[in-house]
Amino acid sequence: MKKILLQLDVDPQPCPFDAIVAVDAGAEVLLRHADVKPATVTPLVHGAMFTRGGADLAATAIFLGGSNVPAVEAVAEQVKKTFFGPVRVSVLVDPAGANTTAAAAVVAAARHLPLADPTAASTLQAVVLGGTGPVGQRAGRLLAGKGVRVTLVSRSADRAAACCAAIEARQPAAAVTPAANDELPALLGSADLIIAAGAAGVQLLSDEQFGKASSCKVCIDLNAVPPAGVAGIEPTDKARTIGGLTVYGALGVGGTKMKIHRAAIARLFTANDHWLDAEDLLTIGEELDASV
Ligand SMILES: NC(=O)c1ccc[n+]([C@@H]2O[C@H](COP(=O)([O-])OP(=O)(O)OC[C@H]3O[C@@H](n4cnc5c(N)ncnc54)[C@H](OP(=O)(O)O)[C@@H]3O)[C@@H](O)[C@H]2O)c1
Repeated sequence: MKKILLQLDVDPQPCPFDAIVAVDAGAEVLLRHADVKPATVTPLVHGAMFTRGGADLAATAIFLGGSNVPAVEAVAEQVKKTFFGPVRVSVLVDPAGANTTAAAAVVAAARHLPLADPTAASTLQAVVLGGTGPVGQRAGRLLAGKGVRVTLVSRSADRAAACCAAIEARQPAAAVTPAANDELPALLGSADLIIAAGAAGVQLLSDEQFGKASSCKVCIDLNAVPPAGVAGIEPTDKARTIGGLTVYGALGVGGTKMKIHRAAIARLFTANDHWLDAEDLLTIGEELDASV
C-alpha cells in the first residue's frame, strides 16, 4: 500500500519546501492542494478518510501548512471536526515551519539547561525576541510548557500581550510576560536563555546589548539572513561557547529542525490517529536527541 500524503496549504501555492521534505521522509505519493480554507477542506479530508479502510488508513496522512498561522489553525479545527470515531488519518501541523523550528530551538536549549526537570526549569528565565512571530510564539509556548518563566518581546507591548494571552488560554499555568523592546535593557541581565526569533535580516540585539546579558547561559539566533539577529552569532554556530555562554545560529538549529520534520512525516504513517502539533514535535526532537 503506497504512503500518500495530502499536503493542504492555506497559501496560493503549496510550499515546495514542505513537499520536498515529505518526499525525502518517505511519502510515496504527494497530493498538493493550495488556498485551502475551513469552508473547502471537508471534502478533501473525506477523500482521505473514505478511500482506504481499517489498518490501511495508516498509509494515508495529512500535512497542514502555509504562512498564515491562524488560517492553518482554523483549517486544523475543521479537519478535527471532520474525523469521527476510528475513521481518521494522521495529521502533522506545521504552519510556516514554526512548530518544527521552535521545537528544534527548545531541544537545543535543553542540551545545556535543565528543561526536563520542572522544578529546575521553573527557576529559569527565557527572553524570546521577535516573540510575536510564528516561531517566537511557539518557542514561548513550548518553554512555558516546560515550566520556564518566559518574556515575549515585541516592538509593540499590545502585540506581545495578545500573544501571551493566547499561550495562557491554552496553558493556564504558563508564566508568560509581555514586554516591549524598550524594556530590553532591564530584561537582559536576568535572562538564562535568549531566543532571537525576529524577522529574517533584522538585528534585534547589538553587541553592546548582548554584552549586558550577563547571566545568559544559552543564546539561539534563528535568523540566517545577514545581519545576524544577535550580533556575534554566526548562522553555523552549533553549541559554540563564548566564555560561559553557549550559542546556536539558524543553521546550527536547522539540522535538528529537519530531523524533527522528517521523523514526524515518518511517524504519520505508523498509525491512523496521530495528531502532531508543536508539543508532539518537541517530544520527537527530545527522543531523537536522546538516541544519539
Ligand atoms: N532555522 C530554521 O530552520 C528556520 C525555520 C523557519 C524560520 N526561521 C527563522 O526564524 C525567524 C522567525 O521566523 P518567523 O516566521 O516567526 O518570523 P517573522 O514572523 O517574519 O518575524 C518575527 C517577528 O519579528 C518582528 N519584526 C519584524 N520586522 C521587524 C523589524 N524590522 N524590526 C524589529 N522586529 C521586527 C515582528 O515582531 P513585532 O512586530 O511584534 O515586533 C515579528 O512578529 C526568522 O528569522 C526566520 O527566517 C528559521
